[in-house]
Amino acid sequence: MSESLRVGLLFGGRSPEHEVSVRSARNVRRALGEAGHTVVPLRISRAGRWTVEPDGDLADEPGAGGAGRPLLFAADATGRLLAEGAGGALDPVEVDVVFPMLHGVNGEDGRVQGLLQTLGLPYVGPDVLASAVCMDKDAAKRLLAAAGVPVAASVTVRAGRPAPSFADLAGRLGPMLFVKPAGSGSSVGVAKVEAEDGLRPALDAAFRYDRKALVEEAVVGREIEVAVLGNEEPRASVPGEIVSTAAFYDYEAKYVDAAAARMEVPADLAPDVAERVRALAVEAYAALGCEGLARVDFFVADDGRVLVNEVNTIPGFTERSMYPVMWERTGLAPPALADRLVRLALERHRRDAALVTTWGGG
Ligand SMILES: Nc1ncnc2c1ncn2[C@@H]1O[C@H](COP(=O)(O)OP(=O)(O)O)[C@@H](O)[C@H]1O
Ligand SMILES: [Mg+2]
Repeated sequence: MSESLRVGLLFGGRSPEHEVSVRSARNVRRALGEAGHTVVPLRISRAGRWTVEPDGDLADEPGAGGAGRPLLFAADATGRLLAEGAGGALDPVEVDVVFPMLHGVNGEDGRVQGLLQTLGLPYVGPDVLASAVCMDKDAAKRLLAAAGVPVAASVTVRAGRPAPSFADLAGRLGPMLFVKPAGSGSSVGVAKVEAEDGLRPALDAAFRYDRKALVEEAVVGREIEVAVLGNEEPRASVPGEIVSTAAFYDYEAKYVDAAAARMEVPADLAPDVAERVRALAVEAYAALGCEGLARVDFFVADDGRVLVNEVNTIPGFTERSMYPVMWERTGLAPPALADRLVRLALERHRRDAALVTTWGGG
C-alpha cells in the first residue's frame, strides 16, 4: 500500500457506549497497523478527559501511573495537537488524520466532529451535520421520509411535555409499540410496550438518555443491515442479518451473550429484496448527507415492507460487529477497509479546503 500515515485513533468517550468503543478501537488499531499505518491512541475517559498514550494494546481503563499525557489543542486551525509533559512542557503530537471510533453521544453525534473540523484536522466518517442528524432518530426519520425512503410510523414525545395516551398511540401505531430515546445507541433505553401500564415507565427510561423519545409501531420481521462506504460515490456491501433469539436485539445480545444473536452474512434474502435494501441503503446515506462510512439498518417486515430503522455513522468494529464482517464478505478485509476510510477522510479534507470561506477574496 502507498504512503504510511499517522492516524490518531480516538476512543472511549463520555457515552454509555464507552466500553464498546474501546473494543471497537482495538480492532481498528490492528487493521490500521496491518495496513502499514502508525496508530497514535487518543483516549477520552468516561469523565471526558483526553489523553495521548504510547501505542500498545488499548487497556480498558486509562493506565494507572499516568501512561497517558493530557492532550491539548492549538486553536490556530492548523490541526496541531499537543501533549502536556513534565514541568508544563508542550510537545507536538503528529497526526495526519483522526479516526474517531466513538459510539453514541459526545462522539458519534457531531460534537467531536465539530471540534476536529474547527481544529482543521481531517477525520474519518460523516461531517458535523450528518453525524448530528443520524444520532437523532427523529430528525433522521423526517429527512428520510422527505426523500421518499420508507421508515416505520412513529410519534415524537418530549420530556416535560404531555405525552399522548396509550390508546391514542395504539390507535395511530398499532397495539405493539417500541419506545426509544431519539439519541443513544446499543439499544440503551429501548423498550417494547404492549399494555397501557408499560408506557410511562418506558418513556421515563428513554428520557434518562435524551429529552426526546420516539414511540414507533413495532415492526414484525427481520433485521437486515448494509455497510456503506464512500464519499460522492458510496458503495453498499452485501446485506447481513441479525438473527436474534432475544425478545429484541438488546445490549446484552449485541455485546455480551453470544448465544442471543447471530450474524448471517450475506443475509438469506431473495435477490430482488437484497438489491432493494442495497439501493435503499445508498439512498438513505445520500439523503442524510453521509460521507466516509455508515451502517444502514433495516426492518424487512413480514408484510413485505422494507423500512430503514436507523443509520449509524460510527458503527461497531467489535468482534461481534456487522460492519467489518459485511465488508469482508464483500471482498474488503479489515486492513483494506481501514486504509480506505483514512484515504476517504483525506480526500474530503482536501476537497473541502478548496471551499471559499472568506468574502470578496479573489
Ligand atoms: N419499531 C420497532 N419494531 C421492532 N423492533 C424494534 C423497533 N425499534 C427497535 N426495535 C428493536 O430494538 C433494537 C434497538 O433499537 P434501535 O432503534 O436500533 O436503537 P439503537 O440505536 O439503540 O440500536 C433493534 O435492533 C430492534 O431489535
Ligand atoms: Mg440499532
